Amino acid sequence: MGIYSTIVRPLAFCLEAEQAHHLAIKLGANMAWGAGALHPWLAVSEPRLATTVAGIRFPHPIGLAAGYDKSALSVEALAALGFGSVEIGSITIDASDGNPKPRLWRLPLDRAVVVHYGMPNDGAAAVRDRIAHLHLPVPLGVNIAVTNRGIGAPPLTADQIVEEYAASARMLSPHADYLMLNMSCPNTEDGRDFFAERAHIEACLAALGQIGLKIPVFMKVSPLGGVEAVERVLAAAEGHSIVSGFMFNLSPHKPPGLRTPDAVVRTMPGAISGPAACSRLTDECIAECYRRMDRQRFVLVGAGGVFTAEDAYAKIRKGASLVQLLTAMVYEGPLLARRIARGLAQLLERDGVKNVADAVGVDVR
Ligand SMILES: Cc1cc2nc3c(=O)[nH]c(=O)nc-3n(C[C@H](O)[C@H](O)[C@H](O)COP(=O)(O)O)c2cc1C
Repeated sequence: MGIYSTIVRPLAFCLEAEQAHHLAIKLGANMAWGAGALHPWLAVSEPRLATTVAGIRFPHPIGLAAGYDKSALSVEALAALGFGSVEIGSITIDASDGNPKPRLWRLPLDRAVVVHYGMPNDGAAAVRDRIAHLHLPVPLGVNIAVTNRGIGAPPLTADQIVEEYAASARMLSPHADYLMLNMSCPNTEDGRDFFAERAHIEACLAALGQIGLKIPVFMKVSPLGGVEAVERVLAAAEGHSIVSGFMFNLSPHKPPGLRTPDAVVRTMPGAISGPAACSRLTDECIAECYRRMDRQRFVLVGAGGVFTAEDAYAKIRKGASLVQLLTAMVYEGPLLARRIARGLAQLLERDGVKNVADAVGVDVR
């Protein structure tokens, strides 16, 4: 048992989930000055894990998912902790308070989190000013979405939604290694349903195509709708050369079979993360997408309930070139990505795999 599980986690879990989240971000922000010195100690440097995905060199494939550092307040510390990449956001063109509180809960029985944040963030201009001067030791992903202006705000037109993505991309892409388009926020209406229509996806990609982006773009899409939805996304991306790959988001629905009593879960609006809630669905999406996509053109980023090296390896074997986590860090601490990466290197060695890229999709026929 480490210090995190014996001391830090019990203390953090005495606080409300959102309060603990803000405190962790604040601690990270205060660590920025020492991050450069910390990184060489915590970095994972295993030739077997180093991988180039969409033209970007990653020291290893285990990254931090969007939603932890929404406004880029503690990026330097996070980049020093042994992640192979850090994705910030979701960031929107205008600052947003997100959904009303309470909007974040832990479900310890399921090692899960219920999230109904609704993408609170400081807005693209403030985030640009924070990241513009950074020199990080790992790739930085910037996740963008449409502004959540709250219940009762007049709905945006399709053109306005598309223009919000384009404006954020213009502002933030010069300071990022890749862009992740959040086209599936489970907690906002504009974010959830708009991109169920192929024409809307295409309009957004066409607008981004005109910006002259110099970095790869990934689409974070809904895990719902089965093979038909996967095929719709692939067809929409087909004619847009800016797209390098895909990722599957959380489902807005409550999954069956949780250990937490239904009566408790029903009081919490939002999407549920963690292994019991979302690994199976995202794994199915990864495999189905990998089976169908043009592998010369596209790659997959896998997330959803990754707690161990075995979990990460399973996603890679199903077709993910990169893996991200968030919830496991809440339960297992900030050095987990480092432990998972080292465990992954051992699994690859055990199986005689020379480089992680050679394991991508081996379980998919
Ligand atoms: C607290 C929390 C906030 C999140 N916020 C965002 C977000 O703003 N944008 C986004 O694209 N995904 C967001 N996600 C989804 C994660 O990026 C990730 O896809 C998902 O949680 C599955 O990974 P996990 O089981 O390791 O947490 C959030 C997840 C959590 C738990």
